[in-house]
Amino acid sequence: MYIHKNFWYSMNIFTSLYKSYVGKKVVMSLTGIFLCTFLIVHLFGNLALFKNDGGKLFNEYSKFMSTNSFIRVMEIVLFLGIIFHIVSGVLVWFRNRSARIQKYQVYETSYSTFASRMMNLSASVVFLFIVIHLYTFFVPTRFYGDENSYKLVVDAFKNPIYSSFYVVAIFILAIHLKHGFQSAFQTFGIKEKKYALLIDLVAILFWFIVPLGFISIPLYFLFGGK
Ligand code: HEM
Repeated sequence: MYIHKNFWYSMNIFTSLYKSYVGKKVVMSLTGIFLCTFLIVHLFGNLALFKNDGGKLFNEYSKFMSTNSFIRVMEIVLFLGIIFHIVSGVLVWFRNRSARIQKYQVYETSYSTFASRMMNLSASVVFLFIVIHLYTFFVPTRFYGDENSYKLVVDAFKNPIYSSFYVVAIFILAIHLKHGFQSAFQTFGIKEKKYALLIDLVAILFWFIVPLGFISIPLYFLFGGK
């Protein structure tokens, strides 16, 4: 198969940039912002759960998500985004740790104490959450042909242990997003005062409003929603 030489040239530029510390931080920030946009789309789709129609709309939406070709391609991009985000995070963590051991002065040494420890902890919880979440909802709908996604969701959230786990995990996701936003803007070096308010508002939408929307779903079903 013929692959244009510009493709290999771009790949070379990408790999040499990625080898640098800043390159990995940029990839983390860009994939992080991309994953945030997924969360908005995902939340919008999930709002169909609130329609009191026995799950008709949500199941139609779910069927569309598992059969539409564009969505299937975006799904691959999404999983690549998750993998790149995690791998870059682990590599940055290793690099920071070895730099600390060697007592070198690295970027953001003050940041890399409490906040970065919180980032590692919150990232691990979010990772665990995603694995459990995919196992409960994604695997049955995509691989076992379960067409009643609504029933899967309702059955899961009627269980107080499962719902409580969701509420706590999404709260921790919110903490991860809050620190993640600060870190991303630090990486891009955006410090101008005129953008400060806009950045704060966008950040609040992602780390506060969106998680609140997600948390409302298990609570709704736990406290009687059908
Ligand atoms: C409590 C609210 C949530 C509900 C009810 C929910 C429900 C679902 C369902 C039913 C699926 C299966 C595919 C589909 O029908 O769309 C799914 C997939 C997925 N969810 Fe969630 N979800 C919630 C929150 C989250 C959160 C907070 C994250 C990320 C941290 C997340 C990440 C994913 C991913 C990565 C997939 C697979 C990709 C895809 O289907 O496009 N979900 N979710």
